[in-house]
Amino acid sequence: MKRILSILAAVAISSLFVAAQAVKSDTSKDSAPTTEIRKVAAPQTSAIDGQANYKAYCAACHGVSGKGDGPAASALKVPPTDLTRLAANAGGKFPTMHVETMIRNADNPSHGSKDMPIWGPVFRSLSSGNQAQVELRVSNLTKYIEALQAH
Ligand code: HEC
Repeated sequence: MKRILSILAAVAISSLFVAAQAVKSDTSKDSAPTTEIRKVAAPQTSAIDGQANYKAYCAACHGVSGKGDGPAASALKVPPTDLTRLAANAGGKFPTMHVETMIRNADNPSHGSKDMPIWGPVFRSLSSGNQAQVELRVSNLTKYIEALQAH
């Protein structure tokens, strides 16, 4: 029996795509339920609403609070980064450029694992290729993450 555990996480570009949904499956009474990630289509959100973008595309893994405790986290090989510690880990200054780069193209192998979806193409698709809107979305999302920083 499978039961949907949480809201959807990640996202899709047209037919190919990256969204995730955490699903718990209890196959038998004896084994602990395991969490699986299911790919789902990315919901549309307003490019100017950083919080809505975060909740729709990031919270499943990074958690609503940003601490890396989203419902899909346990299904990943690499734990999602605690996004509330980014400034603290960078000597107190929030690394805006780094975060924007991570959001646009986490496919760069120097930026870690394949568990972090690649948002650039997804956001371009959501904005029908409107580059100014993609930049606005990335910028507002980054500002929202900056507001989550632990002090
Ligand atoms: C499917 C799970 C998943 C989703 C959804 C996800 N992430 Fe991640 N993210 C990860 C994982 C796992 C890592 C750690 C990668 C590594 O260290 O190799 C990561 C790393 C990051 C980092 C890097 C921090 C650093 O400096 O190393 C940032 C920034 C980030 N994510 C932002 C986001 C944002 C913004 C979104 C939503 C648009 C998002 N993530 C959605 C799994 C996810």
